[in-house]
Amino acid sequence: MTPRTSFEVGGMGHSIKRKEDPRFIRGKGTYVDDVVLPGMLYLDIVRSPYAHAKIVKIDSTKALATPGVVAVITGQDLAKYNLHWMPTLMSDTQMVLPVEKVMYQAQEVAAVLATSRYAAADGMAAVEVAYEPLPVVVDPRKALEPGAPVLRTDKKDKKDNHIWHWEWGDRAATDRTFAEAEVTVKQDIYIPRIHVASIETCACIASFDKVDSKLTVWMTTQAPHAIRTVFALVAGHVGLAEHKIRIISPDIGGGFGGKVPVYPGYVIAVAASVLTGKPVKWVEDRMENLQADSFARDYHITAELAGKKDGTLTALRIKTLADHGYTDAAANPSKFPAGLFHICTGSYDLKAAHVEVDGAYTNKPPGGIAYRCSFRVTEAVHTIERMADIMAHQLGMDPADFRKKNFIKPEQFPYKSALGWEYDSGNYAGALDLAMEKIGYAALRREQADKRRRGELMGIGISSFTEIVGAGPSKHFDILGLKMFDSCEIRIHPTGKAIARFGTKSQGQGHETTYAQILAEELGIPASDIQVEEGDTDTAPYGLGTYASRSTPVAGAAAAVASRKIQDKARKIAAHLLEVAPDDLVWEPGKFSVKGAPDRFKTIQDIAFAAYTNHPQGMEAGLEAVSYYDPPNLTYPFGSYICVVDIDKGTGEVKVRRFVAVDDCGNIINPMIVDGQIHGGLTMGFAPALLEEISYDESGNIQGGSFIDYLVPTAVETPKWETGKTCTPSPHHPLGAKGVGESATVGAPAAIANAVVDALWHLGVRHVDIPITPAKVWKLLRDHGVSE
Ligand code: CDP
Repeated sequence: MTPRTSFEVGGMGHSIKRKEDPRFIRGKGTYVDDVVLPGMLYLDIVRSPYAHAKIVKIDSTKALATPGVVAVITGQDLAKYNLHWMPTLMSDTQMVLPVEKVMYQAQEVAAVLATSRYAAADGMAAVEVAYEPLPVVVDPRKALEPGAPVLRTDKKDKKDNHIWHWEWGDRAATDRTFAEAEVTVKQDIYIPRIHVASIETCACIASFDKVDSKLTVWMTTQAPHAIRTVFALVAGHVGLAEHKIRIISPDIGGGFGGKVPVYPGYVIAVAASVLTGKPVKWVEDRMENLQADSFARDYHITAELAGKKDGTLTALRIKTLADHGYTDAAANPSKFPAGLFHICTGSYDLKAAHVEVDGAYTNKPPGGIAYRCSFRVTEAVHTIERMADIMAHQLGMDPADFRKKNFIKPEQFPYKSALGWEYDSGNYAGALDLAMEKIGYAALRREQADKRRRGELMGIGISSFTEIVGAGPSKHFDILGLKMFDSCEIRIHPTGKAIARFGTKSQGQGHETTYAQILAEELGIPASDIQVEEGDTDTAPYGLGTYASRSTPVAGAAAAVASRKIQDKARKIAAHLLEVAPDDLVWEPGKFSVKGAPDRFKTIQDIAFAAYTNHPQGMEAGLEAVSYYDPPNLTYPFGSYICVVDIDKGTGEVKVRRFVAVDDCGNIINPMIVDGQIHGGLTMGFAPALLEEISYDESGNIQGGSFIDYLVPTAVETPKWETGKTCTPSPHHPLGAKGVGESATVGAPAAIANAVVDALWHLGVRHVDIPITPAKVWKLLRDHGVSE
């Protein structure tokens, strides 16, 4: 897209530098931990060493005798105010502090309040808790077996560990298509637990002013407005009304979905501040963050594809067991307990599909957060892209040819999928062709054939994914009843500068820059003259926040709509100033001129000044607008990734030699920021493909609870990413833009896994679960008779 505005104005399509970076680069960002209030107390949390145990006794005597310790808070204390349980975003319940038993290792057991962080830690170590261990269930399959210990004994009528069953699609048509199929393939796929591991852990400062009963919370949250409403609904009975709650989400060091849920630490800090009347700070350490905050994935999937011998796909059937830990605290739209997993038909034109998901309780922390993913889309993409590769290999077809044969064609859009989604636009073959050209696909296949003859292991993997982002249209999308619109409020000052406020909250994505660029595009006011604010519920308009790549599709659209409302009023003011009819004016970014007399014009700055100094009689003064945007549809970004791996036969190590990522997110606001999003996203897709996993032993002890075992990639391991773009605008978004923040995380793991299996298929290997560690590959090589 050629930019419509000059680089100085900085509208869409310009790679202007990020407005937020001068403060970040100089260490001048304000994160929760940078906020220090007079008289502030500090919280530390006692955590359970057991995954399932009865609490026999909590003895606070020694803790209270520790210098600096002010109080020890237990579940019994919170129970007096009915605050020991809280609702989750999926209408389940979660303990703030336990009264009877703990349900996972590292669960909060008690909290210590002290005058310094160190005193709080000393007090925490001095709390004595007597536990009586209970039988532990870590495997969701065992959790659902008859006779398994029932974990949620707090739910009076619960007789098993089954949370819900959800299914979507036409079962009969799918079964029929499978029965008639010439070829079918079936595969068990496990997508393990992983953690977002953002640089900044979770933190808050709760400050309750007893004089005017106002609670201010500085909080690492991606969704400040929704959090305020939830606080008001949960704690209204102890006097916290919504207008007396202010949530401030300052600079955030990465969220990736992990900062959407409400964690017990936040609630305990609020309760402690309300009880003491003093500000209370809680900052997790790294191990608490990794061990106790919500996790992503943990899907046990059995997938089947049906098709014809010529390679035409016909149907998809999936059964999934979702491990939610001890409570369903996933951040999904209410109507979809398995998120948007039913995008699992991907980029392919399938006649029929049916998907079933069952949720199970286990003795683990809550799972199911949407880690850089629009609610289970990564799981869906991994499944369909692995399955497509298995089918292609089974039929002896090149995986690229196989995909092209089955892609939804550009002329089929808007396309209704077998599972009911209406894809807005796409050109999947275009993206794959470009990726193949960039990487030199044909030459690589020749090289692979040569190497195979020499006994070397080289693989080429493709992932042609379709994303689904921009939740969402209010007819289908809500969280706890709150519809998933988003907002923008613009105020133009008399001198033509502006402030724009949003219901979203950047965690590093660069909203201060890209939102300003949208206004610059629509109004011609230079992006440098526009101040963008988010994250303060006292000032920002109501919105559902930033996750699931929804900021551009929803709040970005609100920015365009609000700008257009301003442009409408500006036209009337310009007509008044130029003494012509509004219809006689022509708009180009930054000015209205008279049709046929281009030298008679008024700039947006002239018009802004007039809005406060010389507005037409009968018109309200000022120049401002607000939009609450309810998207008519989701946006469907897509891409094709190709990965080349070499496998060391001696160690099983997989080396990503090349990785080409071609993405399509429609019209781009800032190409440099989009590239940054893709580079980061690819690294976050590479990580679970080869390195990251949180697992548990049979007693529920976490494996991978620190960075010694949880292998976050550094610059050393990260491959060099090669990127490319195609552009297929969204027909319904006012700017033709689609979201992009998550595409790469969603699309990358399957490309890597497909490359590994491609290298090993001729040996008889059909599938490897991620993370594909050297140990796993080495064992596979041994099992298939390869040794070095
Ligand atoms: O909701 P979140 O900000 O995480 O995701 P997003 O809407 O995909 O946007 C991520 C960043 O990329 C933002 O700064 C967007 O404005 C930018 N972006 C862009 O410049 N052009 C697009 N078509 C999509 C996103």
